[in-house]
Amino acid sequence: MNKIQLISGTAHLKLAQKIAKNLDVPLTPIEIKNFADGEIYVKIGKKVRGDDIYIIQSLVGPVNDNLMQMLIIIDALKRASAKRINLICPYLCYSRQDRKVTSREPITAKLVADLITKAGADRLITVDLHTEQIQGFYDIPVDHFVGYPLFAKQIKKLNYQDIVVVSPDIGGVKRANKLADLLGAPLAIIDKVRKQHNEAEVAHLVGDVKDKTAIIIDDIIDTGGSIAAAANVLKDFGAKDVVVCATHALLSKNACERLESSAASKILLLNSVPIPCEKRTPKVKVISLAPLLGKIIWRVHQERSLGDLFKWENQSKIL
Ligand code: R5P
Repeated sequence: MNKIQLISGTAHLKLAQKIAKNLDVPLTPIEIKNFADGEIYVKIGKKVRGDDIYIIQSLVGPVNDNLMQMLIIIDALKRASAKRINLICPYLCYSRQDRKVTSREPITAKLVADLITKAGADRLITVDLHTEQIQGFYDIPVDHFVGYPLFAKQIKKLNYQDIVVVSPDIGGVKRANKLADLLGAPLAIIDKVRKQHNEAEVAHLVGDVKDKTAIIIDDIIDTGGSIAAAANVLKDFGAKDVVVCATHALLSKNACERLESSAASKILLLNSVPIPCEKRTPKVKVISLAPLLGKIIWRVHQERSLGDLFKWENQSKIL
């Protein structure tokens, strides 16, 4: 079997360190710096020829710098004859632009897929893509993991009664339905409209939330507008409590204040992106992805099936 090496970009070093600890594999030294004009310089600190490499980089802000840094790391590895270059991108940027909505718009999710593939990656491992069909934009294997089993486990632990799972928009219904299935709970759906980017308004609520604990599940919290509006509307419709689950806590602008002052009493987040101390407000609980990502890397390296890990009941046993 080829040797395994883990390399971290600068986007989410803490997660990479935790994965390295779980796997008992040290992070390969890498030098990453900027030239005076901002161009990125990368040098891998040891031999990689013939080895299986796992790059850990979350494509969070500064998005363009982190994306470019990752592409340059791939290029350095390819030119140094690494055997297989596997990308662990728990959060994949530009995924929200996955289709043209009006004329003369780009499809950036496809552009990013082309950049990653062309740079020389052999595999992409990611979590909660904005839409599942983004997998098809790639001509390399994509292992797409989901966060809802981790949320289900935590919700069961917290012993909420009389719950209803809520999708905060039509696009998230499938995800919410899966969580509802796991929890044996009914589903409600919010019909969200956007007048412009990062500005959400609730149009309608389908389903009954009265006197129930409403569990909202979303892939991304960016400015917090969608989630805060959803939580407040659920309260207005008579929910007795509102709990939020979200995979990618981008928490831009005043998202934290919005969430703290919203009707949500608890906010469960995965650490697909760094969540600094000042953003871990009293309502927030962070669930680590490191054990799951460590298992995935180990199985890929051993060329074992990942199918078992996709099954939530196995995930909850493993984690
Ligand atoms: C949109 O479709 C996503 O699933 C999220 O709901 C959205 O990106 C959240 O953005 P914000 O927090 O700015 O409302």
